[in-house]
Amino acid sequence: MPGLFVTFEGGEGSGKSTQVARLAARLRALGMDPLVTREPGGTAVAEGIRALLLDPERRPVPLAEALLMEASRAQLVATVLRPALDAGRICLCDRYADSTLAYQGAGRGIDRALLAQWNTAATEGLNPDLTLLFDVEPSLGLRRRSDAPGATNRLDREPLEFHERVRACYLELARSQPDRWVVLDASLGTDELEAQVWETLSPRLSRARV
Ligand code: TYD
Repeated sequence: MPGLFVTFEGGEGSGKSTQVARLAARLRALGMDPLVTREPGGTAVAEGIRALLLDPERRPVPLAEALLMEASRAQLVATVLRPALDAGRICLCDRYADSTLAYQGAGRGIDRALLAQWNTAATEGLNPDLTLLFDVEPSLGLRRRSDAPGATNRLDREPLEFHERVRACYLELARSQPDRWVVLDASLGTDELEAQVWETLSPRLSRARV
């Protein structure tokens, strides 16, 4: 596969979305044309699914929640990510399949092997080249999030233990695939974290053509 596929993972309030935007700005300043997207969402169909998923008034059962995440993912991969990577672009995706393992697997208790199969089906086997984990204590992340008015979604409102299980799962995934994952300390300030993201990514840029 040409292109370079980078995913951003982490708990609530880890600051990863800010880092996606900063990295994209740096790449544009270098004359590159990164594709920036997010999950759930990133296409008209998937943004509709996102609205349904994050609405605090809705209560999908865990399996329905997981399948909606996969439906959003299938649409994004087939219509956006795969074509952009085939064109040699660098793709920055705010969350991807690992979020399902962490949130619906460790968080909700759905069997991880089943979710991994669904991930393979939805992504048609498209795996990131690099995954950045923005690791932060859930208590700090949730505090940051609740300080930003109007920013909490349905999953933010889960209890602290849920977010602790999510974090532990991410760290375990990172340990099990050290070639793909890089763990960053998301308690650092935004500028310092940006510098670390750049240090991690810049040596790999030669893979992306545009
Ligand atoms: P968002 O507001 O984008 O949160 P964040 O800034 O933390 O990324 O909402 C995405 C939410 O969806 C987030 O709480 C994590 C959750 N999610 C899952 O539970 N499973 C998934 O597979 C994905 C992609 C996201």
